[in-house]
Amino acid sequence: MRTALLASVLALACTPGVACAQDAPQPQDPHLARNLAATCANCHGTGGRSVYEPLVGQPRVKLLQTLDDFRTGEHEATIMHQIVRGYSDAQLELIADWFSGQQKN
Ligand code: HEC
Repeated sequence: MRTALLASVLALACTPGVACAQDAPQPQDPHLARNLAATCANCHGTGGRSVYEPLVGQPRVKLLQTLDDFRTGEHEATIMHQIVRGYSDAQLELIADWFSGQQKN
């Protein structure tokens, strides 16, 4: 009994290289990147096309750098420094992938 309990606890444990339940990004979900990117739409417009400098079509590296600069305070912000802290690095990478892969129009 005790062994079974221990085994199930170990099975749930997050070990490096092994995905655990609370690891939000599931790259195999084809809609995950789009859904994450949609959380930016309130302010950046649907699909990242807005009056601000559009997020769509920006190079992935530039987006990630800007987001990182918001996080560290390097890039001054009214709100983005708080928003960016709500996402894991993996989630931000998915978001940057998605926006950089979209066509400007
Ligand atoms: C509540 C509104 C809001 C939301 C939601 C939001 N942003 Fe922003 N974003 C801003 C504002 C305002 C700025 C201008 C910088 C500032 O004052 O914070 C900005 C600036 C940026 C910039 C820099 C634009 C540039 O090229 O100079 C990037 C990149 C960015 N946001 C990405 C994102 C991403 C990715 C998300 C979703 C994870 C997101 N934003 C969600 C309001 C928002």
